[in-house]
Amino acid sequence: MRIDKFISECGLASRKETALAAKRGLLLVDGVAERDVSRHIDPELQRVTFMGREVLYRKYTYVMLNKPEGYVSATDDKKLPYVTELLPPELRKMELFPVGRLDRDTVGLMILTNDGVTAHTLLSPKRHVSKTYKFECVEPLPQNAEDTFSAGITLADGYECKSAVLVCNPDRLGGYITLTEGKYHQIKRMVASFHNRVSYLERVTFADIPLDTSLARGEWRYLTDVEIGILLSKAK
Ligand code: URA
Repeated sequence: MRIDKFISECGLASRKETALAAKRGLLLVDGVAERDVSRHIDPELQRVTFMGREVLYRKYTYVMLNKPEGYVSATDDKKLPYVTELLPPELRKMELFPVGRLDRDTVGLMILTNDGVTAHTLLSPKRHVSKTYKFECVEPLPQNAEDTFSAGITLADGYECKSAVLVCNPDRLGGYITLTEGKYHQIKRMVASFHNRVSYLERVTFADIPLDTSLARGEWRYLTDVEIGILLSKAK
């Protein structure tokens, strides 16, 4: 693989930035400065240091996307815009897919990867991976709604939700809900059990990883090493 491609796929710098850093002697391959970023390396065998930091080779790619409204959580769709369309061609070639689903009108944090085993494990109901959603609803929630969420809401179809945490805004017209499961339309159906309706829904954390608020809707970035570490530890 070309060195500039390797550095950009690790999320450290664009290919142009890599070329500039290499000119300044800040790119080392096996301890020797490499100024030709078109050179091919084997990241599994060679040690690359970029701007003073050793670059960890990863078999899989993990990205964070700030999902906009109107996109389906899919890798293809005949009629509707889908989330992987928001990724650049080099990432689309890597066949990333979303870890879990968000409704078409839900916005916010979506993690995409090509690490099928980790994604599958994180979504297993046994893992209790937490997800926090910011929401708004059309009517104020009752004063005891926090206790009902904590005790476990029974949905209209009889499904008994696991204990969830509700933190209401002072006007009770919204707030934050944290779940450790992910049933179809779960937040909307939980709020509907109070004869109410969700008017805005945004996922703000997944597996304790917060949405990077510097990403505009539709923008993405690679997960950092720390974030990948958190994700992999939850899937262990
Ligand atoms: N709950 C919902 O109702 N919709 C989502 O997209 C996510 C959680």
